[in-house]
Amino acid sequence: MGRYLGVQKRLVKRAVSQFDLSRDFNKRHLERIIFHHPNIGAVVKCVGRCGLTLLIWPRFIAPFRWRLRHLEARLPNLPPEFNGFKILHLTDLHAGMTRTAYLQASLRQAVAHKPDIIVITGDLIDYRPQALPALDAVLPLLKAPGGVWAVFGNHDYHEYSWRHVGERSSHRLIHRRLRQKLAAHGIHLLCNRSAAVCRNGAAIYLVGMDELWTGRSDPKQAFADINSSSPVICLQHNPDAIGQLAEYRWDWMLCGHTHGGQVDLPLIGPLFVPVVDRSYLRGIFELAPVDAGTAERRYALVSTGIGYGLPVRWFVQPESIMITLYQGASGYRWRDTAVQG
Ligand SMILES: [Fe+2]
Repeated sequence: MGRYLGVQKRLVKRAVSQFDLSRDFNKRHLERIIFHHPNIGAVVKCVGRCGLTLLIWPRFIAPFRWRLRHLEARLPNLPPEFNGFKILHLTDLHAGMTRTAYLQASLRQAVAHKPDIIVITGDLIDYRPQALPALDAVLPLLKAPGGVWAVFGNHDYHEYSWRHVGERSSHRLIHRRLRQKLAAHGIHLLCNRSAAVCRNGAAIYLVGMDELWTGRSDPKQAFADINSSSPVICLQHNPDAIGQLAEYRWDWMLCGHTHGGQVDLPLIGPLFVPVVDRSYLRGIFELAPVDAGTAERRYALVSTGIGYGLPVRWFVQPESIMITLYQGASGYRWRDTAVQG
């Protein structure tokens, strides 16, 4: 026992002597301790690498690792004229906050795949004055023969909620200018209304909802003109509205807003989830048919979006989705991951 204590004392004395900086402290000595001591060097390297990963990856790399995903959607009521019809789904651009050059590069790549129409499910801007010139640099890139269709998200009205905005607030001015800008760039706005997209005499329908948090979402008005059996694609920013829209006839609902949680850490889970119902975080969800008697399935797609409100992402890759429609029993298939529904 006495021998053991003696060895321990010698070891501690040796360790302390290495840190006795008052004896002959100089920079070289400190460097020698840090970089050449076998244990301290390894710890410094490990901390450095972890620090780089923790700071650089989610802040400077992950938010810009955008990808275009390809989805095949089968609809039993799809007119043959729309077989192979391509819809580019964009959401949460957050122009003004998201780096403009990154947005432009991503959109150029997506549009190069020649979509027939482009739909944007809100948060075109991140609410701030510099958002409008940033949007000017981005919107001219969006070209499709069937047009570009958009609905608003909460950040198109206010950074949080329109209900907190006074009549004379600058927020209302920016929102008015946003509407003017969309019109000037030929973007069709769908605020509680529907529109037919026609091809060789056949049609599918787009229904666009106004933003949920503003209290302006009016499904009854939006679906008022839907009375045919043609496919209906509903554009809705916030997936919390999925339940509210369950009684209306639609085949696919396209959403954004959640950014997939933006940071979704293993064992901890998603950090930023501004929704009541966290079950619709990202991905495709099967919903019950509108008519209980039918077996036809319908789906809600929640995309992680392109941009960000806070410039950080981790374990949630930014994306846009190219949806190709086919006639067939209702279902879907990711072409990149072979996940089937
Ligand atoms: Fe957003």
